[in-house]
Amino acid sequence: MALSKDDVRTALASVSSPDGKPLPETGTLSDVVVTDGKVFFSITVDAAAVPQWEPVRARAEEAVRAIPGVASALVALTGERAPGAARPPPRPQTQTQTQTQTQTQTKGQAASARPQPGGREPQAPTGIPGVEAIIAVASGKGGVGKSTTAVNLALGLRDLGLKTGILDADIYGPSLPKLLAIRERPQTIGGTRLKPIERHGMPVMSIGFLIEEETPMIWRGPMVMSALTQMLREVEWGNLDVMVVDMPPGTGDAQLTMAQQVPLKGAVIVSTPQDLALVDARRGIAMFRRVNVPVLGIVENMSYFVCPHCGGRSDIFGHGGARAEAGRLGVPFLGEVPLDIEIREKSDSGLPVVATRPDGPHAQIYRDIAARVRDGLEGASRPAPKIVIEG
Ligand SMILES: Nc1ncnc2c1ncn2[C@@H]1O[C@H](COP(=O)(O)OP(=O)(O)OP(=O)(O)O)[C@@H](O)[C@H]1O
Ligand SMILES: [Mg+2]
Repeated sequence: MALSKDDVRTALASVSSPDGKPLPETGTLSDVVVTDGKVFFSITVDAAAVPQWEPVRARAEEAVRAIPGVASALVALTGERAPGAARPPPRPQTQTQTQTQTQTQTKGQAASARPQPGGREPQAPTGIPGVEAIIAVASGKGGVGKSTTAVNLALGLRDLGLKTGILDADIYGPSLPKLLAIRERPQTIGGTRLKPIERHGMPVMSIGFLIEEETPMIWRGPMVMSALTQMLREVEWGNLDVMVVDMPPGTGDAQLTMAQQVPLKGAVIVSTPQDLALVDARRGIAMFRRVNVPVLGIVENMSYFVCPHCGGRSDIFGHGGARAEAGRLGVPFLGEVPLDIEIREKSDSGLPVVATRPDGPHAQIYRDIAARVRDGLEGASRPAPKIVIEG
């Protein structure tokens, strides 16, 4: 018999929320999507409660996987306003909010544009002094290759002659210390400001430099805001054309904080081609649109597989899904990165492929993506067409 949503909900009754209620009775579950034995749904909770809910998410995934006939299960935990609970997301400072609203009209973003109340000209952004553009590399889902993409994209931008920096904002799983083989700690300047670490000609800052690895997850949530502020405003970034920010997975409080507190010039969404990852990519795009940050485009990572032995290509995840999704959502498609052992090995050993094999095919792919991102940024910098409301 085919697997139904009710089977999933019945199995979830054995999973309890942090306050002991059966999960289906907590009002946190999204609709359950079941296709060909693949199950997807999300749990939406108050942003502050995310750390307590992470084990619940994991147990829910386990419980669903144990149902006969389930091929895979993906449960996303989203930290937003809990249904019925009135905790607003962090408020942006007025100036920052105004600033993000100036960046509404780029390719594919017309629908999210809002005229300024009273027709006033937007105020100048309160950016990071010396930093021209800040872009977020994000995805709704974990493990799709955001950090790998962020590092290689930053190196690609550097190769285009842009002065580039990179910031790791993933408070739950900082990756840059590993991806860039950084073991040292940043030094302080004058006792208060931090000097970023230099790698491959780029200043690098990671939340992993600031918090101990053993810091319990439950403490990390409340630290998101202050740690991000510190990394953005109390670090000597110097003059940068672009700062690439490696975001944590999901569409929770860290992303919202970032999108609201930082004058983001745009977001690059990373997705794998599978349907379930695309659901999350869509969620990520929706979040940036909600806070009026232009989506510079989607990168399809692990797009296809080239056999290192025979050179044959196979589309193991159904290549092309992200390109089609970009078309549907009206955002630029930035490029396809293959699933390749060299990318993985180099990435995981701290030797990103663009820096260590600049003449290889992968470096070229990342540089092409970087060029499209640069072009998108130029588009985002042009003054938005005036919106005239008749009547
Ligand atoms: N194109 C690729 N080919 C092969 N391996 C890849 C590719 N992109 C990423 N990986 C590997 O996949 C794993 C996850 O990548 P990465 O850490 O960049 O993902 P992430 O989205 O940042 O994850 P998280 O959500 O945990 O932050 C890593 O081991 C990385 O080396
Ligand atoms: Mg990462």
